[in-house]
Amino acid sequence: MNIILLGPPGAGKGTQARKLVEERGMIQLSTGDMLREAKSSGTEMGNKVAAVMDAGELVTDEIVIGLIEEKLEGDHGGGFIFDGFPRTLAQADALGDLLSKHGTALTAVIAMEVNDDALVERITARSTCGNCGEGYNDISKPIPADQKCIKCGASDFKRRADDNEDSLRTRLMEYYKKTSPLLGYYHAKGDLKWVPGLGEIADVAAGINKVLDA
Ligand code: AP5
Ligand code: MG
Repeated sequence: MNIILLGPPGAGKGTQARKLVEERGMIQLSTGDMLREAKSSGTEMGNKVAAVMDAGELVTDEIVIGLIEEKLEGDHGGGFIFDGFPRTLAQADALGDLLSKHGTALTAVIAMEVNDDALVERITARSTCGNCGEGYNDISKPIPADQKCIKCGASDFKRRADDNEDSLRTRLMEYYKKTSPLLGYYHAKGDLKWVPGLGEIADVAAGINKVLDA
């Protein structure tokens, strides 16, 4: 089973992908996480994309398609969750070609239905465990009072460089201009399934599982 989680910044793609990894043994492929890793380890590519990412703009198709191509060569496990990829029509076409080259295809494209006000609130309140990647939110899932991660016990919480109002405005505009056309693209292919993204994390997960089990 291969799925895309499609939605604007803060829609909950990463949160839901992590649940699917735990519950279904799927493999999360987040181009955002891969790019942040390259940025923090200071690779040549990481240095090249740092300013673009911090400003909230999209990295070139060539770079992100290359990252995904590399991952598809590895273990296919319980299937892939594409989180934050594809984000342009060129990336969507490339993904279709890569999957068919590997003798597989998309099972569903899950569009997460949210509204912009909720996104701003979620993103400006977000933090992540620097050790294991567990996500937190000042409003919906605060860091425990003892300052220890619920998953790994570490006390190293991080906020993303692009989680500020200026970058978020750009990220949203990039989404509406370049990524939202994918809704029509996948609708026309018959792959698109809408799931409400505004409820509790567990309710959103239930909506996704309903689609996957159908
Ligand atoms: P990326 O890392 O993909 O960021 P994004 O799309 O902006 O999305 P986010 O990660 O911010 O949000 P999310 O949907 O994962 O939400 P989350 O689960 O964390 O990309 C970053 C940058 O990398 C891009 O701007 C671009 O520069 C570059 N890039 C990446 N991929 C690219 C590509 N394919 N092409 C070109 N450039 C690319 O949730 C957000 C918060 O809300 C968390 O605090 C969470 O705890 C909370 N939350 C989640 N669900 C709920 C809920 N149901 N109720 C209440 N709170 C919730
Ligand atoms: Mg994410």
